[in-house]
Amino acid sequence: MSAYVTILPYLFLGLLGMTLGHDIKGSTHCEFYNSTRCIENEEGCSGREECAPSEPDKRNHCFVLWKYDSALKESKIVLKGCFLDSKECYDKPHCVEKSADRKQQMFFCCCDGNMCNQNYTWDPQPTEPPPPVKEIEPVPNPDQQVITLLITIAIPALFVMVGLPLMFWCYRRRKLGYFNEVPTLEPLPLPQPSPNLGLRPIQLLEIKARGRFGAVWKAQFKNDVIAVKVFPMQDKQSWQTEQEIFKLAHMDHEDILHYIGVEKRGDNLQAEFWLITAYHEKGSLCDYLKANVVSWPEMCRIAESMARGLMHLHEEIPANKADGYKPAVAHRDFKSKNVLIKADMSACIADFGLALIFQPGRPCGDTHGQVGTRRYMAPEVLEGAINFTRDSFLRIDMYACGLVLWELASRCTIQDGPIGEYRLPFEEEVGLHPTLEDMQESVVHKKERPFILETWRKHPGLFAFCDTMEECWDHDAEARLSASCVMERVATLSRSLVLNSSTLIRVDNTESITTKESSM
Ligand code: ADE
Repeated sequence: MSAYVTILPYLFLGLLGMTLGHDIKGSTHCEFYNSTRCIENEEGCSGREECAPSEPDKRNHCFVLWKYDSALKESKIVLKGCFLDSKECYDKPHCVEKSADRKQQMFFCCCDGNMCNQNYTWDPQPTEPPPPVKEIEPVPNPDQQVITLLITIAIPALFVMVGLPLMFWCYRRRKLGYFNEVPTLEPLPLPQPSPNLGLRPIQLLEIKARGRFGAVWKAQFKNDVIAVKVFPMQDKQSWQTEQEIFKLAHMDHEDILHYIGVEKRGDNLQAEFWLITAYHEKGSLCDYLKANVVSWPEMCRIAESMARGLMHLHEEIPANKADGYKPAVAHRDFKSKNVLIKADMSACIADFGLALIFQPGRPCGDTHGQVGTRRYMAPEVLEGAINFTRDSFLRIDMYACGLVLWELASRCTIQDGPIGEYRLPFEEEVGLHPTLEDMQESVVHKKERPFILETWRKHPGLFAFCDTMEECWDHDAEARLSASCVMERVATLSRSLVLNSSTLIRVDNTESITTKESSM
């Protein structure tokens, strides 16, 4: 069962707190911890969190949610962080769970004060002793029997049959309100918290993709179809990183997913973070290649725009009259799932939740280099041996770019021979769910790379394309091509006209496409 379902009872505590007034306090800091992210070794899974400024007359508290493993007799923290205004937590300097009742072995405590959730305790209070049994019970008359029956059986039964479903319905309605309904002016069963005022009337229609951080929905806003990426509370950091990247100068670019805005929906443990962007019906390159093959011009168009998008992301652009300074940015999770196919078959780059900004003269600030998707990790990342410099991070993106070029070529109809089913890079070598060790063994020790069929090389354009991918995934990071070089090469290729499988006629005067531009 997910922690989200298990913490449901605690959500009511948060809701309860929203209606209670109190003096404003200064900014509160709480210890932050997210077990899911820590298990996956993700950066930012623990640390210190500054609680979002509370509204006037609302307090911020800290909380701990933990699980008790009765077999191992040990507690495991599930979540730690900020918790908005709840009377339960008022004036409690220590985080103590007093309930003796271990509901699904989940425990919760909250407290008042900076970092008060660093430590937590379970201090079960004895439940009230049952009233002494009277020696002689008077025999009740029939009326009394009906009343007793009502109190002991009918009312609890009614609560179970009607009250609980109603409470659950209220909760679902609140939840689905964010997911499926255009906010209306009709009162909802539970009061809408004030942070929701002024939100765009967005109707979530269907889930298009599920990623590391939440789900991407196809949605409607007025007459426009848009995409909404919904980040659960524990992935707030990725939501923040992603909007920070989108808000950089020069990021409104045709080869970068178009950003529309962000919203925070809900409160406390129910909070969700939305990222609103353009919607592309064809979906990700990965999904597209699973269902379709691509012609030579289509492949070139996708590859060129994808490389141009990566080049733009990697580029440092000085401020000009129209726009400010854009620092270089590394994507750090480049893969075919994070490349979207637009209606005109060009591509744009998406998903900047792990991206890293390089401000000149400042250390890149990353503490954990081994992030991203294992399958696409460059050998130096798998080995845990990266230099924390801008160029190292850009070269790691280029390794992944080589794998995406291979995915494209594997589904290109220009190859001589039957086109196989879509396969992920290294699917043949390590299967569908490789461990880090599987990837290390294949990529670092055996120096394997996705297999390039002889038949691909029979076509001169595809021959050059294969050379390009091989130069992207070079074991030696410094030998890898840059995004601008890949873009130039593919642009040259696509401008060339293919007559037959052995002759290429160039439509302009650029040098031969099979020449290696080693200076690039
Ligand atoms: N999958 C992920 N992001 C998407 C988007 N913006 N449009 C369509 N499909 C997507």
